[in-house]
Amino acid sequence: MTPPRVYLSPPHLSGDEQALVAEAFASNWIAPLGPHVDAFEKEMADYVGVGHAVALSSGTAALHVAMRLLGVGAGDEVPCSTFTFVASVNPIVYEGGRPVLVDCDAATWTMDPNLLEDELRRLDAAGRRPKAVVAVDLYGQCADYDAIGALCERYGVPLVEDAAEALGSAYRGKHAGRFGRLGVLSFAGNKIITTSGGGMLLSDEEPLVRKARFLATQARESAAHYEHREIGFNYRMSNVLAAIGRGQLRVLTDRIEARRRNFRLYVEALGDLPGVSFMPEAPYGTANRWLTCVLIDPKFFGATREDVRLALERENIESRPLWKPMHLQPAFASCRSVGGSVSGSLFANGLCLPSGSSLTDEDRSRVVAHVRNAAESGRRG
Ligand SMILES: Cc1ncc(COP(=O)(O)O)c(C=O)c1O
Repeated sequence: MTPPRVYLSPPHLSGDEQALVAEAFASNWIAPLGPHVDAFEKEMADYVGVGHAVALSSGTAALHVAMRLLGVGAGDEVPCSTFTFVASVNPIVYEGGRPVLVDCDAATWTMDPNLLEDELRRLDAAGRRPKAVVAVDLYGQCADYDAIGALCERYGVPLVEDAAEALGSAYRGKHAGRFGRLGVLSFAGNKIITTSGGGMLLSDEEPLVRKARFLATQARESAAHYEHREIGFNYRMSNVLAAIGRGQLRVLTDRIEARRRNFRLYVEALGDLPGVSFMPEAPYGTANRWLTCVLIDPKFFGATREDVRLALERENIESRPLWKPMHLQPAFASCRSVGGSVSGSLFANGLCLPSGSSLTDEDRSRVVAHVRNAAESGRRG
């Protein structure tokens, strides 16, 4: 008999969501606005420690609105982390911009500030000032915002923080999402908290946020009829989904603790295996450990990360290679890239292990046992 599936990062409800959703139904706010949307925005802004939040249909939508707000247009070069999910980069292209794919630092797996500096210097020397830099908080680890923020300031470039994976993580004691002119969160089903699908745009700048709301509601002018002077989007979050988000936000602290515990227990159970290492935690912060990422050096481990992934899959356990960097993606083959070997090697050797906050000790023991088996059979074979 097939053992029950262990998922990589499934949704984990708090129990409060149904009552909140029922309330949305009872009040008949079944619309892309309503009291739960307003409350979710306020509660999230307070949690992150930022002035304003706009609830949107996805993190990708939030990044797209961010690119529009900052005026990214045809041919504009936008430095962005290469080691990320495709949604960090696509919105640059939606607006006609050209991503410049910047490699990560081996010590943090996030954008290497030295490479960003080289690139900003190069663009400056050529008389070109990017409209934005997009830095990604990878697997819940904040990028180095003292360094990146200082560079963006020196070269006069607005910073966008893609904190889609990093809600609840901290950089020097402050929460992820507040380090750029604009910050982005995602509540996709695999994230640390979910609204099934959804996202948020964060900022301290009220005029930017007002414009974001306007753009996300079809750029509708204030008039009784439908008046439009520019092209907008239909990107607002439903009141029903915001109700789910409010129930989820109440348990965020527990969810972070559970994910950090997963990480700790994986390290205890697998850290002694030759060729195994784990994603480092940068000394400047506390990661939410959204996913536990392990590196497998086949020379010492006896098997590749793909051998391990397939061995887990045979046991009905879902794991995944680390993000394939954008500079290695055919869709971005024509984009300029800066460095690339660090993320390339992380991709070659890295695996995300089941990391949900509802993962049981039994599930985790199954994962551990099969990773250890893969090492043993690799060495024997
Ligand atoms: C780094 C990163 N950026 C952006 C997104 C996009 O978020 P969404 O799926 O809500 O559009 C995701 C996740 O999906 C992500 O991992």
